[in-house]
Amino acid sequence: MPDIRPTGAALGAEIRGIDLSQPLDDATFRTIEDALHEHEVIFFRGQKLTPEQHIAFSRRFGELELHLRKDCCKPGYPEIFVVSNVIENGKPIGTQDAGLFWHSDLAYMAVPSRGSLFYAHEVPHDDSGKPLGDTLFASMTAAWTALPEEIKRKVADRRAVTSYAKGYYRDRKSGPRPPLTEAQKARTPDVEHPVMRTHPYTKKPCLFVNEGYTSHIPGLPRDESDRILETLFEHASRPEFVYRHQWQAGDFLIWDNASTQHRAVFDYALPQRRRMERTTLTGTAPF
Ligand code: OGA
Ligand code: MN
Repeated sequence: MPDIRPTGAALGAEIRGIDLSQPLDDATFRTIEDALHEHEVIFFRGQKLTPEQHIAFSRRFGELELHLRKDCCKPGYPEIFVVSNVIENGKPIGTQDAGLFWHSDLAYMAVPSRGSLFYAHEVPHDDSGKPLGDTLFASMTAAWTALPEEIKRKVADRRAVTSYAKGYYRDRKSGPRPPLTEAQKARTPDVEHPVMRTHPYTKKPCLFVNEGYTSHIPGLPRDESDRILETLFEHASRPEFVYRHQWQAGDFLIWDNASTQHRAVFDYALPQRRRMERTTLTGTAPF
């Protein structure tokens, strides 16, 4: 049986004793899936996976998304989205600076992602050997629970609009991105999601607005909407809800996009290389 060790933070657990390159029996898979729902972020260290094995394990959870930024997907593997600062033949091999702002993946789609499976191939280090490029994760079940009742009452039945363009064009550390194509724009109209969503598996309430993509709460005057969202964004990333993952090459980490948000700590630059690969689970419409 796998050995599950919670991080001690509001979320996150390491699972030991599993080789993800091997087929897993149903009972073991169910233990992993239950651990993901309970701990919201789970990780396995020291994994050695081919892209086929990364995809095969991901598919145990269900259908996978093909990212709309096709130029950032691994050649020959449309299911694998590359997050990397590496340039080959003068071209970035993936998206260079994903997730500089708190967000959950595909929160800007009518059907956001259920979860993401992130595999660390190369991790940058400083001169003393300390890993750089950590990722922060925040528990949106903990954040919702800790909200003052008065704010909960105000927003519990509201919806909020997300905008892909808001996140796409924000300040970027690696310079401006190419303008969105008409096809990308057509796939990402603004959509509305409940401010508080019910987790599809655990049924726990989760705060579901994020600073990366949420733009406003319809039905409120704009300044009030701005003020409430600012309060919610600030609340969502409070240190007591956060687990900071320090990467090692070979880490395979899964986050739940309904119950968590994440943000990249972009504190490295070439020649320090960072190369991560992500598969993205198709989710269900928030309610
Ligand atoms: C992502 C993402 C953060 C990171 O791939 O979805 O937000 O630390 N990545 O690379
Ligand atoms: Mn992300």
